[in-house]
Amino acid sequence: MPRYIDELQLTGKRVFVRVDFNVPLDDAQQITDDTRIREALPTIRKVLEGGGKPILASHLGRPKGVTPTLTLLPVAKRLAELLGGTFEVLMADDCIGEGVSKQARDLKPTQVLLLENLRFHKEEEANDEAFARQLAQHADVYCNDAFGTAHRAHASTAGMVPFVKEKCAGLLMRKEIEQLGRVVKNAARPFVVVLGGSKVSDKIKVIENLLPKCQTMLIGGAMAYTFLKAEGVEVGRSRVEEDKLPLATRLIDTAKRLGVDLVLPVDHVCGTSPDEESQAIDVLERAIPKDLMGLDIGGKTRALYTQHLRDAKTILWNGPMGLFEVAKFAEGTKSVAVAMANNGQAQTVIGGGDSAAAVNEFRLADKMTHVSTGGGASLEFLEGKALPGLKALE
Ligand code: 3PG
Repeated sequence: MPRYIDELQLTGKRVFVRVDFNVPLDDAQQITDDTRIREALPTIRKVLEGGGKPILASHLGRPKGVTPTLTLLPVAKRLAELLGGTFEVLMADDCIGEGVSKQARDLKPTQVLLLENLRFHKEEEANDEAFARQLAQHADVYCNDAFGTAHRAHASTAGMVPFVKEKCAGLLMRKEIEQLGRVVKNAARPFVVVLGGSKVSDKIKVIENLLPKCQTMLIGGAMAYTFLKAEGVEVGRSRVEEDKLPLATRLIDTAKRLGVDLVLPVDHVCGTSPDEESQAIDVLERAIPKDLMGLDIGGKTRALYTQHLRDAKTILWNGPMGLFEVAKFAEGTKSVAVAMANNGQAQTVIGGGDSAAAVNEFRLADKMTHVSTGGGASLEFLEGKALPGLKALE
């Protein structure tokens, strides 16, 4: 267990907070979802209230060198709005160098310094030691609050930590570790896992790690067609990972051996192509006609999954049930979100990525116990892997 920011004495100290401000931007560089910025506010406020000087650092996108469209300036603007008029957000023009160190030292009690995109330097992802030492020069305390990036062993998430006097995790990190940790280690039963998304291959380790812990696993999304085909069901032109059929069979057998109810769709909403142009066609049985592809779970499956979710005490959901970006194929994904929101007794956890985007879109995020800010990081956490960003704090 790391130490947390509220256990440290911060007065007058420069606190380097690694945040994950890797937010989606539209073509006009407007932020389309500011969840990650809002979720970092408690830690930033804690530093300010404790009399510390917050120096915030993040990556944005995957730039190769300095890329003007990936500046953190829009984030600085949004952060200033969210902090209200009381605090001023200063934007540094780089993340290393004497100029930046001076800005950090000179911060006033009402100011926050946001460093420019860490990945403008290739040394960040290379976890270069000299670069890590340069970052560490800005700080008396290192705080990692970037759960979304905790699966990366980069200079700002791992390399710099030994070079700063004090280290800790932030409040968002604590929330993520506690909520996802409870699901992995200590879930109240019945524990129902809902998994979707396009590929079985992306979820193999999560399935393997969670099968021995849950009582029921509901499968949706395109990965369901690989499982159905492995069971000998006709899936038409649905997306199937042919090379993962033996694996799907093995996972079905493991579930049986463990007494886990691994539930596959019993009907489908199909189309002729995975886009807006396609008509939505209800197929009322497990087998899909040869000329169609499954693009969402059907009405009977929605009712069946809803019933399983009604009595659960813990629900973990990762991955959409269908092509939810297209409204006519979004009902399955929506029905899972609604069933989770309607279950008043369960710990309901959204494992990040597309399912987090879906609950935000359906405006049901505040009905969940926890919506993870991690994509890859939550998947790796749920796989049971040790995350480098957390290991570095031990
Ligand atoms: C994410 O969005 O998953 C994190 O910010 C990590 O980004 P990355 O996959 O580019 O390392």
